[in-house]
Amino acid sequence: MPEAPNDRLAATLVPLHPPIARRWSPRAFDPAAELPRDDLIAVLEAARWAPTWGGRQPVRFVVGVRGDDTFAAIAGLLRRGNRYATAANALILLCADEGEDDRTRLYSVVDAGAAMTNLVIEAVARDLIAHPMAGFDVAGAAEAFALPPGLHPLMVVSVGRLGDYSQVAPEIAERDSRPRERLPLADVVVNEIVVLNQI
Ligand SMILES: Cc1cc2nc3c(=O)[nH]c(=O)nc-3n(C[C@H](O)[C@H](O)[C@H](O)COP(=O)(O)O)c2cc1C
Repeated sequence: MPEAPNDRLAATLVPLHPPIARRWSPRAFDPAAELPRDDLIAVLEAARWAPTWGGRQPVRFVVGVRGDDTFAAIAGLLRRGNRYATAANALILLCADEGEDDRTRLYSVVDAGAAMTNLVIEAVARDLIAHPMAGFDVAGAAEAFALPPGLHPLMVVSVGRLGDYSQVAPEIAERDSRPRERLPLADVVVNEIVVLNQI
């Protein structure tokens, strides 16, 4: 698992599977790190095996590895505030084929979210970090990779190793030291359930 400060861990009422508890969205990537081939394949395989509505499998990936042209193209599409991710080992553009109607369109996005989550959790389980980003030039991505109509670029996930916070810009270090918070469980479970009343 990445060495993360304890205040980055998810605060939960009961212990979670460690890669879920330890996952967070760091902005400090180690620019000198290497990404073993199996780790890259594994995160893509995890994404491929995410649940998919009706078995449609609408999610597609454009994979850039630091040093190659695809990585440079994806990096060039990131919004300025996301340029920290250019120090990652891989930039993976997740796209979804919207299909023929409102339901296929809706669930293609759900499927992409599930694929992203599987990818990120597999990365954390492999001592990597991963950060999803919607802040990129969507139209530019469709053009750069000649995506067919209906295949929508939805997010870029950066994958790499946790960097050294003494080497990153002060605003990134400050942002990544802010407390991680979530609404309490009792606020997000909208009905009253007995187990929560017992807490
Ligand atoms: C769909 C989606 C898009 C996101 N886009 C960005 C982004 O463009 N830039 C960024 O730095 N983080 C982005 N994030 C990361 C969120 O800011 C982060 O997950 C949230 O602040 C919660 O922090 P945590 O992941 O550390 O728990 C995105 C997350 C999701 C799920």
